[in-house]
Formats: sequence, structure tokens, C-alpha cells
Amino acid sequence: MSDETETRLKRIKIKRTISLSESSSVEPEGFMNNTIVIYQSKYGYTERYAKWIAQELNCEVISRKDATIEKVKSYDTIIFGSGIYGGKIEGIDLITRNFDQLKSKSLVLFTCSMCDPVDPVIRKSIWTELVKTVPEEILSKMHVFHYQGGMDFERLNIGYKLVIGAMAKVLGMKGPAKIGPIERELINATKGKVDHCDRSKISQLVEFVRSLPA
Ligand SMILES: Cc1cc2nc3c(=O)[nH]c(=O)nc-3n(C[C@H](O)[C@H](O)[C@H](O)COP(=O)(O)O)c2cc1C
Repeated sequence: MSDETETRLKRIKIKRTISLSESSSVEPEGFMNNTIVIYQSKYGYTERYAKWIAQELNCEVISRKDATIEKVKSYDTIIFGSGIYGGKIEGIDLITRNFDQLKSKSLVLFTCSMCDPVDPVIRKSIWTELVKTVPEEILSKMHVFHYQGGMDFERLNIGYKLVIGAMAKVLGMKGPAKIGPIERELINATKGKVDHCDRSKISQLVEFVRSLPA
């Protein structure tokens, strides 16, 4: 038996023991032991999507800061979600740095951005950055989904507030005819809270993971 399989079996046994001692029953029916959702979220938008996905799939969900490679590699399906900051997918190094240990897994990535990824311009800009950050060999193994999050300007840290505020001011001076959808969304976000999170958007990802071999 490989170390990895042994770790998984141990985890399942521990979970069963806890569940038996706490409620005198086995763990909830349909619990996906082989699947984990990991999220990197600064203001909670990605975290909401991650928790919705975990609820739907009935699987474990943890924050990126608690995700060690030793823990993560014991799962067969790894779903990683992150907010986009300056075009970058934060925390993705968990996958890229440890790809050798994860390449046999089903890898799912979801991004959470301020702009609507249904818009082809936005999608293209996300992918332009994605291919710069994630090597082709890894990206081609990942099943990628995009969601729209939001922004609460008043909650941003002072550094972000200054940068985003200044950018919005400069863009605002250009006038609506000279700015694109990303810039428009950014200006809009400085005027108040914007929240586009929508649980119904996770259905494709959930269906995809359910269709993976057990
Ligand atoms: C400093 C900063 C930079 C950002 N850069 C981008 C970006 O390049 N593209 C984008 O679509 N959204 C960008 N956003 C918006 C975030 O992706 C969005 O707020 C997302 O919902 C954050 O998710 P989180 O709260 O889970 O971290 C940025 C937000 C901040 C505060």
C-alpha cells in the first residue's frame, strides 16, 4: 500500500471514529472523502463560493493557509479557488510548486474576480495572466471555472484603497467612451459595495466533479 493510500485510509478511519463518538452514527451519507476544496480569499468572496461548492459536494473545505501539501495530496480531487489581484491567481503556488506530487489527481481551479467572466474581454484578460503564472503542463491538467465576486471599497486595506481610488480617478477622467469593461467595473466598485456572488453559478463545476470516477 502506498503512503498516500495509507494516509487516506487513516483519515477516513479517524473521521469515522469522531463521527461515531460524537453522534453514534457513521459519517453523513454521500460524504466525498476523496475531494477537498481549498480557498484563498482576502475579503470573503472566494470563500463563499468555496463553501457553497463544498456544501453541494458534501466534502471538506479549508483555507489556503491551512493547506499543507501533506494534507492535500491525500485527496483524489483537489478544487482550488482564489481571488484575482492585479491579474494574479493568489496562492496557486500550492499547486504549481507541488505539481509532481499532484499530477495524478483531478485538479479543478476556480477564479473569483471583480469583473464578469462571461464577458469574452474579461475572460481573455484572466487567461492572459493565467498562462503567464501557471506553466502549460499544469494548466492543461486543470479544469478551470470563473466566477464573479465583488468588492466593498470601504473594507479594503488603506494601500488597496489608495491604489484603486487613484486608478478610478484617472480612468474616470478619460470618459466612458475610452474605457473598457474592466475599468468600468473598477470605477463602479469605488462608489459602494458591489457583490455579484451567485450560488447558482457553481452548478457546472459541481456536476463536473460528480462525474469524475470515484
Ligand atoms: C488591489 C486589488 C486588485 C484587484 N485586481 C483585480 C484584477 O486584476 N482583476 C479582477 O478581475 N479583479 C481584481 N480585483 C477584484 C477581486 O478579484 C475581487 O474583489 C474578488 O471578489 C476578491 O475575492 P476575495 O475576497 O475572495 O479575495 C482586485 C481587487 C483588489 C482589492
